[in-house]
Amino acid sequence: MEHLREISKIAEWGLKGDKQRLAAYLDQLIEKVESLGDERSANRLRRISEFPKSEMASSAFGSTPRIPVDSESRLSLADEEFFEANSVQIVLDKRIQESVDEFVSYVENADALEKHGVGVSPSLITYGIPGTGKTQLARHIACRLKRPLVTARADTLISSFLGSTSKNIRTLFDHVAHRHCILFLDEIDAFAKLRDDQQELGELKRVVVSLLQNIDAMDSHTIFLAATNHEHMLDPAIWRRFTFKINITLPSCGDRKQIFNLFLNQYASGENIELFADLAEEMTGADIRMISENAIRDAVVRGRKSIDINRLVWRIVETRLKRSISPEDGKPEDIIDVKNLSPSIFKGSTLAELFQTSESTISRKIKQANAAQP
Ligand SMILES: Nc1ncnc2c1ncn2[C@@H]1O[C@H](COP(=O)(O)OP(=O)(O)OP(=O)(O)O)[C@@H](O)[C@H]1O
Ligand SMILES: [Mg+2]
Repeated sequence: MEHLREISKIAEWGLKGDKQRLAAYLDQLIEKVESLGDERSANRLRRISEFPKSEMASSAFGSTPRIPVDSESRLSLADEEFFEANSVQIVLDKRIQESVDEFVSYVENADALEKHGVGVSPSLITYGIPGTGKTQLARHIACRLKRPLVTARADTLISSFLGSTSKNIRTLFDHVAHRHCILFLDEIDAFAKLRDDQQELGELKRVVVSLLQNIDAMDSHTIFLAATNHEHMLDPAIWRRFTFKINITLPSCGDRKQIFNLFLNQYASGENIELFADLAEEMTGADIRMISENAIRDAVVRGRKSIDINRLVWRIVETRLKRSISPEDGKPEDIIDVKNLSPSIFKGSTLAELFQTSESTISRKIKQANAAQP
């Protein structure tokens, strides 16, 4: 193999985290490649060697600076995650996907945009109901941009000591300013909870000012993401700072199908997945993941290669009705509620199978329930 010596030295010093030696061997490799007339490869390597030193320091090569801690509790102010290529999947509505693609391409072309005087501050906030994939989307973006995700939840930054919350915010922003990473402030609305306590109002003002100052001081290479379930609780000035604001909505039927496919893969047929997706109206991606994983666990424990369809349908029904029901009881009001979830799917024969009884019993109980209604 050509240039083995240089390549193994680069690997060695990269893994040991010695940037200077790594850079020296990279220069040697560039010289050799160039002397052999391979201008294209030499240029490619040169671009890598010109990678800013501050960015190299934060690469996955083991010399990652330590995440700062809260000075009182000594708890870490953030968590850091690295993702393998294509390892974080998410199913998004077409409109949302387009916004995410646009955000990613702005980040990827930050230098060119700046050069033409149309640079953007790469910040994005997602909002929407719990379980729709806001946190997952931050991980997905980090995975696509091949950068570590430094996640801080607002409540971990809130300190019980007056003034320390602003200090924590500053420390965290300072930390990411020197890193080639993504800062993610999850559940950013938690800061607004300080408003509940009259004594904390002054602290809230300081926190908002501190957040605004730190966001404004960020350079265009720091990527800032945030997520909230309560966008109306956010300070309007903070809200305005985000270049991209994406409402993550409940998945459509087509999206639910893809999410079931993602989590059930070989454990269910396409036909059944269509049925689940039709039934799982108003359910979040998190609900679908939980139901699917439970069904797979159940199949594995029973030594089966595919999931129990009726059990999964039953879990969807319970999730949608927000209560647990027992098929054996076959209470008339339960039968009616299940039927009303989807009259076209829950016909007599299907209900009979689900409630483990005969079709005639089902129709009798439905009549009984209807008669009992005022
Ligand atoms: N659209 C989706 N596509 C694929 N997986 C999803 C989707 N939505 C949710 N999930 C799955 O559900 C899990 C939980 O979702 P996530 O924590 O991202 O939701 P969230 O919107 O951040 O909720 P919360 O507001 O409670 O923090 C994710 O890890 C992911 O596996
Ligand atoms: Mg979340």
